[in-house]
Amino acid sequence: MSVERTLILIKPDGVSRHIIGRIISRFEDKGLRLLAMKFMTVTKQQAEMHYSVHSLKPFFSDLVSYLTSGPIVAMIWEGDNAIVSCRNICGATDGSKAAPGTIRGDFSLNIEENIVHASDSKESYEHEYPIFFNENEIVVK
Ligand code: PPS
Repeated sequence: MSVERTLILIKPDGVSRHIIGRIISRFEDKGLRLLAMKFMTVTKQQAEMHYSVHSLKPFFSDLVSYLTSGPIVAMIWEGDNAIVSCRNICGATDGSKAAPGTIRGDFSLNIEENIVHASDSKESYEHEYPIFFNENEIVVK
């Protein structure tokens, strides 16, 4: 067993559709521990940093525009194998292919607006979380 942390973002479409609570429930129900949570607007600089690994992809500017188009909820969750567990809870990247019962499978129709982001590795988490949180905003019991 490996206790991991992961960054979850409820993207602007998840916020505007009023499903924040339903999304958070999925992670709580799984048994993960919430360590940090922030309702915030993402700057262009933060979004470009967050998606820097995709900077050469044709959809990079769309990703940045999407993440900065409205408020988001940023969260850090912790638990055994949290990274893969949260990716499973979110479902496949493309909502049209994500399995029913996953967040994207239940709430998203496509890849452009897919409701949530979840770190895909420990390295990604280490890159991503400082973009959204200071160390003193992470509550460790
Ligand atoms: S890739 O190409 O395999 O590295 O992409 P992937 O890891 O599946 O996705 C990385 C993020 O890019 C988003 N994405 C897209 N957005 C718009 N259009 C297209 N075609 C597209 N393909 C991938 C995808 O939602 C991922 O966002 P996050 O926030 O990381 O989930």
